[in-house]
Amino acid sequence: MLPLDTARLFFLEPLGSGCCAHGVNVVILGSGRGSNARRLLEAEREGALGGARVKAVFSDRPEAPILELGPAFGVEASYLDPGPYKTKLTGEGETAYVDAIEAKQADLVVLAGFMRVIKATFIQAFEGRIINIHPSLLPSFKGLAAIRQAFEYGVRITGCTVHYVTGDVDGGPIIDQEAVRIEEGDTLQSLEEKVHAAEHRLLPAVVARLSDPAVRRGRP
Ligand code: GRF
Repeated sequence: MLPLDTARLFFLEPLGSGCCAHGVNVVILGSGRGSNARRLLEAEREGALGGARVKAVFSDRPEAPILELGPAFGVEASYLDPGPYKTKLTGEGETAYVDAIEAKQADLVVLAGFMRVIKATFIQAFEGRIINIHPSLLPSFKGLAAIRQAFEYGVRITGCTVHYVTGDVDGGPIIDQEAVRIEEGDTLQSLEEKVHAAEHRLLPAVVARLSDPAVRRGRP
């Protein structure tokens, strides 16, 4: 567990003092359907993403629907070869991602369904500037199939979490959460719909807040 001061530092000065005089450049990484990435792009279009601008969407799967957001929103969306491993990003794959993200002058990297464990070199390159959305109330139900885990466990309240990414998978400092009640009649499918709807509210709100100059300067 992080000491409170460390968590507060992460929370109040997420992007570093002096960062982002011209807005916050955001790069999104995802492997799947991209509904959270879509919500971020929609929020930007609606003027609801604070000073954040999505500069690129990168995926480790060439067939991922998330890449269709590029032409739909006029933003770069590219497949980047992640290298030979199925579940992690290391070696040349990791270097390719770091270089591509740096080329976009990213101030904030958003993992939105990126199905790989990222390692130290990547984390150090963007220390304190990588966030992830996870479909449970962390620290409960880390890892894969978190909605199913919560449903099968039988908790009455679950939800979603946005947190900073550290070397501790799904264990970095929590930025914000939204709770979802599991009602008597809920099925796994209806619960998934409710959790995803909560994610779609939470993630743009967090990105907007992190992009607020007052928050970036460390003021409440
Ligand atoms: C979301 O449930 C997110 O919490 C998890 O992966 C899923 C991605 O969904 N990390 P989508 O690709 O954004 O629709």
